[in-house]
Amino acid sequence: MARVKVGVLISGRGSNLQSLIDATADPGYPAEIALVVSNIPEVYGLERARAAGIETATLPHDDYPNRAAFEESVARTLVGAGCEIVCLAGFMRVLGSDFVARWPNRMLNIHPSLLPSFKGLHTQRKALEAGVTLAGCTVHIVTPDLDDGPILAQAAVPVLPSDTEDTLSARILEQEHRIYPAALAWLASGRVRIEGRRAILDNGRGEPDPVVMPPV
Ligand code: GRF
Repeated sequence: MARVKVGVLISGRGSNLQSLIDATADPGYPAEIALVVSNIPEVYGLERARAAGIETATLPHDDYPNRAAFEESVARTLVGAGCEIVCLAGFMRVLGSDFVARWPNRMLNIHPSLLPSFKGLHTQRKALEAGVTLAGCTVHIVTPDLDDGPILAQAAVPVLPSDTEDTLSARILEQEHRIYPAALAWLASGRVRIEGRRAILDNGRGEPDPVVMPPV
């Protein structure tokens, strides 16, 4: 079975990258990671990629005169490695519409909130401040708007009275590692259809897949 080639963009420790690496270790998984790109040198995620024998590229955004030049270089590197799908996994740069348009409905992001609540940074802190009792994470198709785009998978976790930003982040992260590999598998195996703002998951019977929810 030919596997779909994926490029993963990171800026840090790469725990979500690791969950994708682990998933692709199964030969039955429909995607393989062809390349990991970091815009920050020497982050731990790059080590994870190397340990798994995956090609890496470090493209520091500060080395470029402007955003367009940086993105052009990232895009060229991904295309050079044959990446058909791009996964953002803790990639801390906003990507412009020209870049996003190169992988239409073929670019995923993982965000640590139940979108559309709490877009942007410090989402767990925002959730605690807002007093919500459920928090969670979302995998969505990337569009030029930040943390927007059709939702493929979400998982919810409880917010406990004793929670700090760290404890809540850790509970959410566990679920991120479940839903990202699942969502990528759906996209890579051609089971995702986009209708307007909605991503419809096809399980072969013409029915949407059940929402992924962990036990609470
Ligand atoms: C995750 O919480 C992800 O949802 C957010 O950035 C964080 C990256 O963590 N976009 P890691 O580098 O995957 O461990």
